[in-house]
Amino acid sequence: MCGIVGVVGRNDATKIILTGLKRLEYRGYDSAGIYVAGKNNNLLKSTGPIKNLEAKLTPAITGTMGIGHTRWATHGKPTEENAHPHTSEKGELVLVHNGVIENYDELRQTYLSEDTFYGQTDTEIAVHLIAHFKNEGLQTKDAFKKALRLIEGSYAFALVDTQDDTTIYVAKNKSPLLIGLGDGFNVLCSDALAMLDQTSHFVELMDGEMVTLTATDAIIEDAAGQIINRDFYVAELDASDIEKGTYPYYMLKEIDEQPVVMRKIVQKYQNEDGSIAIDPNLLATLENSDRVYIVACGTSSHAGWAAKKFFETLTQLPVEIHLSSEFGYNMPLLSEKPFFIYLSQSGETADSRQVLVKTNELGYPSLTITNVAGSTLSREATYTLLLHAGPEIAVASTKAYTAQIAVMAVLAKALGTKKAILAANEFDLFHELGLIATAMETMINEKELLEELTAEYLTHTRNAFYIGRGNDYYVSMEAALKLKEISYIQAEGFAAGELKHGTIALIEDRTPVIGIITDAATGLHTRGNLQEVRSRGANTLVIATEELAKPDDQILLPTVHPLLTSLLAVVPTQLIAYFATLQRGYDVDKPRNLAKSVTVE
Ligand code: G6P
Repeated sequence: MCGIVGVVGRNDATKIILTGLKRLEYRGYDSAGIYVAGKNNNLLKSTGPIKNLEAKLTPAITGTMGIGHTRWATHGKPTEENAHPHTSEKGELVLVHNGVIENYDELRQTYLSEDTFYGQTDTEIAVHLIAHFKNEGLQTKDAFKKALRLIEGSYAFALVDTQDDTTIYVAKNKSPLLIGLGDGFNVLCSDALAMLDQTSHFVELMDGEMVTLTATDAIIEDAAGQIINRDFYVAELDASDIEKGTYPYYMLKEIDEQPVVMRKIVQKYQNEDGSIAIDPNLLATLENSDRVYIVACGTSSHAGWAAKKFFETLTQLPVEIHLSSEFGYNMPLLSEKPFFIYLSQSGETADSRQVLVKTNELGYPSLTITNVAGSTLSREATYTLLLHAGPEIAVASTKAYTAQIAVMAVLAKALGTKKAILAANEFDLFHELGLIATAMETMINEKELLEELTAEYLTHTRNAFYIGRGNDYYVSMEAALKLKEISYIQAEGFAAGELKHGTIALIEDRTPVIGIITDAATGLHTRGNLQEVRSRGANTLVIATEELAKPDDQILLPTVHPLLTSLLAVVPTQLIAYFATLQRGYDVDKPRNLAKSVTVE
């Protein structure tokens, strides 16, 4: 949700900022802007993706210091006026911001009633406020500090004084921000991905901290003005992990990577003696809990649903799944000894974080399962398990979903074994995940068939339904989300048996209904429901495991362990969403209105 970058101390500042912004486009891409200080100061903005901004940069602008921003609009439409960087009234200060200032209206009325604003953003108010204090006689840094004390909400700020091309002032509260340390230069970024080709040494910032960044120093101060000495960490990622290579879209690359991710999870969580490598304290805390609450958003919440059945079967611990945005403000009656699991690919989702802050205040133990080491949710939860999925860049989540399910399975197996639950003892998880990886490869090799079926079923439709029961219903929810978020086909995932209780009224001639059948106990019922919609004109398509398949079924899944079928059944649905989007001519990786990392509530 908006990405910011900055660099000081490099002659090629413009290029570094542009490359960084492109790598942060997953955070928002409705407009972008750049400020570069050098012989001439230059500020440029444009609507649309970074390539539009790049096209405006001819002739190239040069300088040794600068900041950039890629936007996902919250306050104000995605216009050029609302694009960042924003400037103070006289133009002496330039600011980029990721986050939401909650008291912007109050600040405007109290301090800035005489000012003229060009756009509708909260950020413009922030930079005017800093300038207001500077005009009262404060140095830029002190004016910034004074404004920070008044601003309520979330922010990652990078501020520049146009009279000084040696310093960037940085501040963070709730929104992600890192400092990257170079040799004779320093950078800042919302995500290490943006600057991996410049440095692998990053320094985390805590909420309330401010940094004075020059080419040679990164001086961190806490809210009370105390200097903080913090070591850098070395980012494990390789710059090549974030290249698309020969793939036309990141989403396709990430779908194809899923078998490798399954094997990586086995490798990372298996000790040499075959036992599971999970912190014993985490298992002890879980063993002492009476209920697991999985809190997540979007695809991650669907991964929670997909994990429910096997987690309960293997651990005999009840599991509830909740949407973060609902849970925090509408908390249900909790059990006596709850344990919270936050599923979050990015580890930054604001909706999930607000719940974590509350459960921390209540003193409940928690675990974050995330793809990003050092992310906010990881730092603030009691425990962390990593997905080891490699960077996921496409907005539509694919490999993070399957990795979340697999890591939940590792946790369930470890806990069930510790509790000596028979079902867990009998379950050879690592072997089963190996079989899943091979079965995923089989599905991935069916691209041609899936492309043809997608063209046949989804080319001329406004809407579509996925149906299933139990785990197949949970996969249906994810399959429908994938389809709607990138192809814009209105898609719903339904409990197959529930369709006839109302939604069947939407079935018209040739409405596509895709049934998922991986469970012997419910498969025939789902087939019955498919028959009901077919009788009313629907165009039905079946995804079924080989052992449950009927001769006319179109997509056959290799047979895998019944507790883990979601890991496989989702793969053809990801590819269907991918091909439907391509066939409609939309950008697969950057669907309209969305962002990958949602850092506002
Ligand atoms: C956004 C993304 C989704 C993602 C959701 C939760 O809406 O577009 O793909 O599932 O956030 O993100 P998280 O990082 O917490 O898993």
